[in-house]
Amino acid sequence: MNLSFTFRSLLTCVLVGSIAAQAQYAPGQWSLVQDGNSGVSALELAVVSETTVLIFDKAEHNPLQTNGHVAWAAELNLVTRTVRPLNPTSNTWCATGSFLSNGTMVSSGGNAVFPVATGDNGLASIRLFDPCEDGNCDVFEDQRVRRMGSLRWYPSSARLEDGSVLLFGGSWDFWAIDNSTIINPTYEFYPPKNIHGHNGTPIYSPFLQDTLNANHFPLVITLPDGNLFIAANTQAMIFDWKTNEQVRNLPGIPNGVRISSPFSAGATLLPLTLENNYTPEVLICGGSTLDDDAELFTPGIPSSQSPTSDQCVRMVLNDEGIAAGWQVEHMPEPRIMAELILLPDGRVTIVNGAQTGIAGNGFTKDQIGESDCDHPALTPAIYDPTAPLGKRFTQEGLPTSEIPRLYHSTSSLTPNGSILLAGSNPNNDVETHLYPTEYRLEWLSPPYMEKPRPTYTGLPKTFDYNSKITLDVDLPPGAENVSVVIMDLGFATHGVHMGQRLVGLVSELSHHKTKLTIAGPPSPTIYSPGPAFVFVLADGVPSFGSKTLIGTGAQPPLDEDALANVLSSQPLYWDKWTAAHPGAPAPAA
Ligand SMILES: *[C@@H]1O[C@H](CO)[C@@H](O)[C@H](O)[C@H]1NC(C)=O
Ligand SMILES: *[C@@H]1O[C@H](CO)[C@@H](O)[C@H](O)[C@H]1NC(C)=O
Ligand SMILES: *[C@@H]1O[C@H](CO)[C@@H](O)[C@H](O)[C@H]1NC(C)=O
Ligand SMILES: *[C@@H]1O[C@H](CO)[C@@H](O)[C@H](O)[C@H]1NC(C)=O
Repeated sequence: MNLSFTFRSLLTCVLVGSIAAQAQYAPGQWSLVQDGNSGVSALELAVVSETTVLIFDKAEHNPLQTNGHVAWAAELNLVTRTVRPLNPTSNTWCATGSFLSNGTMVSSGGNAVFPVATGDNGLASIRLFDPCEDGNCDVFEDQRVRRMGSLRWYPSSARLEDGSVLLFGGSWDFWAIDNSTIINPTYEFYPPKNIHGHNGTPIYSPFLQDTLNANHFPLVITLPDGNLFIAANTQAMIFDWKTNEQVRNLPGIPNGVRISSPFSAGATLLPLTLENNYTPEVLICGGSTLDDDAELFTPGIPSSQSPTSDQCVRMVLNDEGIAAGWQVEHMPEPRIMAELILLPDGRVTIVNGAQTGIAGNGFTKDQIGESDCDHPALTPAIYDPTAPLGKRFTQEGLPTSEIPRLYHSTSSLTPNGSILLAGSNPNNDVETHLYPTEYRLEWLSPPYMEKPRPTYTGLPKTFDYNSKITLDVDLPPGAENVSVVIMDLGFATHGVHMGQRLVGLVSELSHHKTKLTIAGPPSPTIYSPGPAFVFVLADGVPSFGSKTLIGTGAQPPLDEDALANVLSSQPLYWDKWTAAHPGAPAPAA
């Protein structure tokens, strides 16, 4: 039998249905409910299983305790909405996070412990977490066994097609903005690779040097051709990590808007669908036109009242799209530190953030408490990427929150389809003054949560490329247009949502609409091997998203020699950090 022929005919027969399903969204009321408490402030957050969320804070005086000291990490149970303390041994403050192909979460970077006097220096740390649903898993961290080859505070990360993680940029010391002294203009991998003449050690990136000063938490998105979209400050490029080449310069962000920290825009790859033939398109919303000159960035000079940008820019990343450049649109209100959360129905929800100021705390001349931003954006906006230009945003019927979610706030789609809003702590330590350390959780529910939902069973633990699985489905009565998407719910830190992705799959109903056969994604560049939540949509109403591992669930390539080489010497910039902070906790090298 000719496999490619069967695959194509399956594709053709499903296309008709899924185009229709894309254009429709379940109508009705949105709701916002406040329920539960995160125990530690949700500075970083990722859904790690069908029922649990991993939360990292910085080491500070949180109410949640563990092993006789304050906790700075917790696991939130989505069903009971209670938390369990976790035990990283170093400070997770301002780390990044991604998942490996075998489902293990990697938290990278951080800082020395401040102001709580226990724990290790986290600047070079690699922390691993194997998700569980039985309350028996914890963060494991041992810098003698695994760590980075350099110090990274405010780095970004992305899961690659081989299931490993790329770690990109950051600084070796902390400051409100990057600068030429503290920059770490390199990238590396976890697990480490012997590549480009570097046996596991960091590789220089001229792009990071070129995008000083506002280049903390750069945007790094894996593309369907295996390259990376990388953007920072006002610049963007296409990068080939396999050849270490900047393969394409992209047009700069229009109108002088800076998009990375401390001017933190929200961003996402728009859905890769069958209809758009998996053509990548990025959306970046908000930011600021403030100057990023280092002299203007000395404490007491910037203002918490500076206007932010309402600009959203969007570009299709193929020859034609790049030639056409960025398409400019405007959000209903300006924002920095917005999170762009993809819904299973393909829309984007814009939540959290502020309308004035910059990301940070204790730096501006007119800080509110310690907050460097003000005028919280309290009403979410919805963006429909398939609607015509000018008709894509709405705030109509969207509930307004009472809880400012400013610096160090987070959000994620949950497997059940609601959006979790968490965190906010523009303070050095736990504070109760305006704007306080926030532990209250909110749940934003799209109208589909109230509709009869499709359900399914039979999802295997792994789902390989181009393989076929058949689910038993139970569709709401009268369901017409059925489609399937897989989602990476990503890892939220500082308004940057590492790894978030939605990919539409080919599917076909049979047996009087009780069986649904689904084809796995066509390649690891379209969806990197690793965790995915599978949503079946019926007329715009998603099922619960059960979890699987795309690929075989195997661990990423492990080069013992490259790892040993990383561990054989002090991390890059360690000498500079110790000189700048005599007596501070050392990394365990
Ligand atoms: C299913 O798609 C068709 C074709 O676009 C559309 O006419 C129809 O209204 C959709 N059905 C439902 C129940 O939304
Ligand atoms: C760069 O950052 C360091 C803090 O780590 C700060 O002391 C220094 O003043 C900054 N340099 C400039 C030029 O702003
Ligand atoms: C998912 O949401 C529905 C409401 O649409 C609710 O009835 C159900 O209990 C939720 N399930 C879980 C596992 O949270
Ligand atoms: C996943 O792979 C990593 C890196 O090789 C390894 O450290 C970790 O133990 C693996 N996780 C599981 C659950 O096997």
